[in-house]
Amino acid sequence: MKFFVDTADVDAIRELNELGMVDGVTTNPSLIAKSGRDILEVTKEICDMVDGPVSAEVVATEADAMIEEGRKLAKIADNIAVKVPLTWDGLKACKVLSDDGNMVNVTLCFSANQALLAAKAGATFISPFIGRLDDLNLDGMDLIADIREIYDNYGFDTQILAASIRSANHMSEAAKIGADVATAPPAVIHKMAEHVLTDKGLAAFLKDAEKAGIKIV
Ligand code: G3P
Repeated sequence: MKFFVDTADVDAIRELNELGMVDGVTTNPSLIAKSGRDILEVTKEICDMVDGPVSAEVVATEADAMIEEGRKLAKIADNIAVKVPLTWDGLKACKVLSDDGNMVNVTLCFSANQALLAAKAGATFISPFIGRLDDLNLDGMDLIADIREIYDNYGFDTQILAASIRSANHMSEAAKIGADVATAPPAVIHKMAEHVLTDKGLAAFLKDAEKAGIKIV
């Protein structure tokens, strides 16, 4: 499973990128607003830093305007994936932008039918939002499983990009089901390294090392 980082915080991206943890980046208008930076400028900086796809989202709601914005975003760098919402206009924009040769990430997906439409419209990525379904007492992972089954039944190339990931468990669950990509905030990726038995075991090893006077350098 590829790891995308869901942030527009360039320092956080840099740190994870240096560890080889970044196969791509996703942003959205909320994350750009949180960065306090100009969308074109911060997106260019991210694109220059990472090799993989960097999703940049349109803010228009009508297809022609989304296409115009998408074409402008795509000019930022070769690794831009234009992100459009899963509305009827978003699907129209997806078709045109992907026919133009751009990567397109269709976002705000909450049903298998929406994912099926996005694949038909030529989406490179479909972004089902796990956490927001869980917030409604639904099971976001069921949606990932349904989309996986449907895409595999018909050999769709669209990659399942598990989004709205809120916990380390979401990452392993998405990987078990076979999501192609998961995009997570940097804090969730850090959390994946944590285990209480690792901390406990390390404390015991260090205590014994100190007692025995073990020195390596
Ligand atoms: O990947 C989509 C993400 O940015 C939304 O996450 O936590 O706001 O539902 P969240």
